[in-house]
Amino acid sequence: MSPPAADLPGGWSGAAGAEGDLWADDLAPPDDAILTRAAAAGTPLYLYDLRRVAARAARLRTAFRGRLGLSFAVKANPNPTLLRALADMVDTLDVSSGGELAQAAAAGWDAGRTSFTGPAKRAPEIGAALAAGLGELVVESLAEARMADAAAAGLGLRQKVVARIAPDRVPKGFGDQMAGRPSPFGIDAEEAADTLAQIAALRNLRLAGLHFYSGTQCLRADAVVENWRIFIGLARDLAPMCADGPLRLILGAGLGIPYHLTDTPLDLQAIADDIAPDLDALAAEGRFARPLLELGRYLVGPAGWFLTRVVAVKQSRGQRIALCDGGMNAHLAASGHFGMVIHRNYRLHLVGGAGEVEPVNLTGPLCTSIDRLAQGAMLPRVEPGALIAIHMSGAYGPTTSPVNFISHPIPREAVVDAEGRIVAADWLPQRAGVE
Ligand SMILES: Cc1ncc(COP(=O)(O)O)c(C=O)c1O
Repeated sequence: MSPPAADLPGGWSGAAGAEGDLWADDLAPPDDAILTRAAAAGTPLYLYDLRRVAARAARLRTAFRGRLGLSFAVKANPNPTLLRALADMVDTLDVSSGGELAQAAAAGWDAGRTSFTGPAKRAPEIGAALAAGLGELVVESLAEARMADAAAAGLGLRQKVVARIAPDRVPKGFGDQMAGRPSPFGIDAEEAADTLAQIAALRNLRLAGLHFYSGTQCLRADAVVENWRIFIGLARDLAPMCADGPLRLILGAGLGIPYHLTDTPLDLQAIADDIAPDLDALAAEGRFARPLLELGRYLVGPAGWFLTRVVAVKQSRGQRIALCDGGMNAHLAASGHFGMVIHRNYRLHLVGGAGEVEPVNLTGPLCTSIDRLAQGAMLPRVEPGALIAIHMSGAYGPTTSPVNFISHPIPREAVVDAEGRIVAADWLPQRAGVE
């Protein structure tokens, strides 16, 4: 089913255009002709379809019927072309370093529309963020709040802060769990009332809300809802410690994406319907402004593909191995070394491939046996020169990968724009002396 056109973000009403229904075909890659044209610029390459990102933003807004705003976590994908496009699609950005704040600014984002989370923030970057007019500093400890208070005093301002709370419990089903046990993230819920009282007393800060992010990559709708209910319950309990007026509430979404063929995609509408009464009750109480859903991969992950070309094919002890020009160095996550305990193949396909399938291992150009993109992938015969597309690659791609290990070419980046054109979107410095 397509989202109603009215719910598509401004400027992106073509989101369900040339590529068909981008909502229903969410997991289908773009046409192979598009992937082939994009790869002509050189591989390895990431291709992000901005129309799909827009369709996903629209899907979120439609599912929740406007009950939630959207905040994009820059860490998931800081590509400047993407960040510029997101200005029409989401309400705010969340950065996790001074560097990301600078990247957001370079992409035209006003610091006032930005929040800043992250453990181990340093005094200079807090100072620089406040001086730049940061919207909300997400303080993760009393010590950090004191640093921010000193920085604000030095600048002669009263900074809006939001306190990150680490619940004492995270439901089962999250790929990465950030609370419910000893954790570097946020203020433990058990100590929150006492700590928030001390933060609220700092004269140069205004404690204007609460932030929760306790788990990512969840594919179970019931677990997501249970987690948000934990957040909402804590938010109600802790609201009296905060400043007067409508408070900010940031719900760390934790929405997962189906990286692997055996993964069942999240039922977003089930989540939205289940949580709607809780959100409506909260809204009726009037203590919080419209909550923000903070998320990264759900918005951009399925809108990106990693393209790598087969350099050579080898038959070794009964197995067919295709050696690709980009592997773990360019796509750490697909190699299983970022957020995966046991390596499972990402969804992928052979571009332009047809016919009978056979098992093939896909490896990269590194001199290490951990550089594997896929093991026993069932693909039509892969020959040298073939192009492989790895799906679900729009988040945690180039910036999480060890691109400097063995000095192979840095992955290129390109986008499909609102008109369906392929546009170069490189921003990582390319290596001199390599083609
Ligand atoms: C504080 C915070 N916000 C947002 C995100 C984005 O998570 P995801 O990409 O899974 O939506 C993360 C991920 O680690 C996070 O730690």
